Amino acid sequence: MTKPASPEATGMGDIRSALKEGMARLRRARTPSHTLAAEVLLLEVLGCDRTWLYTHSQDRLDPATAQKYLALIARRAAGEPTQYLTGKQEFWGLEFEVTPAVLIPRPETEHVLEVALDRLGSRGSQTPSPPLRVADVGTGSGCLAVALARNLPLAEIFATDISAQALEVARRNAVRHGVVGRIHFLETNLLEAFLDSRATFDLIVSNPPYIAGSEASSLEREVREHEPELALVGGAGGTEIYARLADQAAALLVRRGIFVVELGYGQSDQVQKILEVRRHWTNIQITPDLAGMPRVLAAERA
Ligand SMILES: C[S@@+](CC[C@H](N)C(=O)[O-])C[C@H]1O[C@@H](n2cnc3c(N)ncnc32)[C@H](O)[C@@H]1O
Repeated sequence: MTKPASPEATGMGDIRSALKEGMARLRRARTPSHTLAAEVLLLEVLGCDRTWLYTHSQDRLDPATAQKYLALIARRAAGEPTQYLTGKQEFWGLEFEVTPAVLIPRPETEHVLEVALDRLGSRGSQTPSPPLRVADVGTGSGCLAVALARNLPLAEIFATDISAQALEVARRNAVRHGVVGRIHFLETNLLEAFLDSRATFDLIVSNPPYIAGSEASSLEREVREHEPELALVGGAGGTEIYARLADQAAALLVRRGIFVVELGYGQSDQVQKILEVRRHWTNIQITPDLAGMPRVLAAERA
């Protein structure tokens, strides 16, 4: 990576000029949403909010902070996602720590939660005894497990991932949001750790890796070069993981237990078929995201 030019050399003495310089560098690098990225990175190094930034735009920026800002701008221009540079991403109104060990939570994954909570309906708010048991498979940052724990205060949650590093991040996010006492973190392949036990679940959710191996090279540079491959690629065809997950979920869900998964682009028919041929499922439904794309599949254990 080339060393960023010094703030003095670029003539950026105040906050406003630093922001303009950051935007110009990202624009030249053809960075998506360059204006927003330049602003978010400046907020990060200054440790302030937007109101402060714009009411102090003529304040002098000390050279060390300016240098730090230009270093982040250079990393963003080279393709690192803004969220890995700031170490955070919002999901379901909560701030999550993210590191390159985890997928950056996407807004469309919030539909998994909406559908799951909707399907649970009154089951989620009653005082069930024993408590509802919920599994989040491939928890990554823990965004789904933590948001579920916050929305289902009486549920016991099990969050699995095949990546020990991801589980560490998820655990820190559970601590940050005060729900670590109700989430069990397990390093296992999908739900394998439960198959030999007598464990059962009322709800199983997952946003599994679903990119086809052949499509991985056509992903945006930010995703392809920086997000964990383990979180992205779901086998040669992209849908293999759904079949294994559906079989495990069928073995572990109680009768009328709920299964909710996120779908990749163009996968809804294929995944729906995977469930239909298995005959363990009823009430299979696909929900579109805000762009109208089939995004979430939900089903009930027959
Ligand atoms: C698409 S990411 C989803 C992360 C998070 N749930 C979210 O929605 O942002 C998929 C996650 O599944 C994990 N994973 C991949 N293969 C797995 C497997 N066979 N068993 C368990 N977890 C797996 C990855 O490490 C990654 O954290």
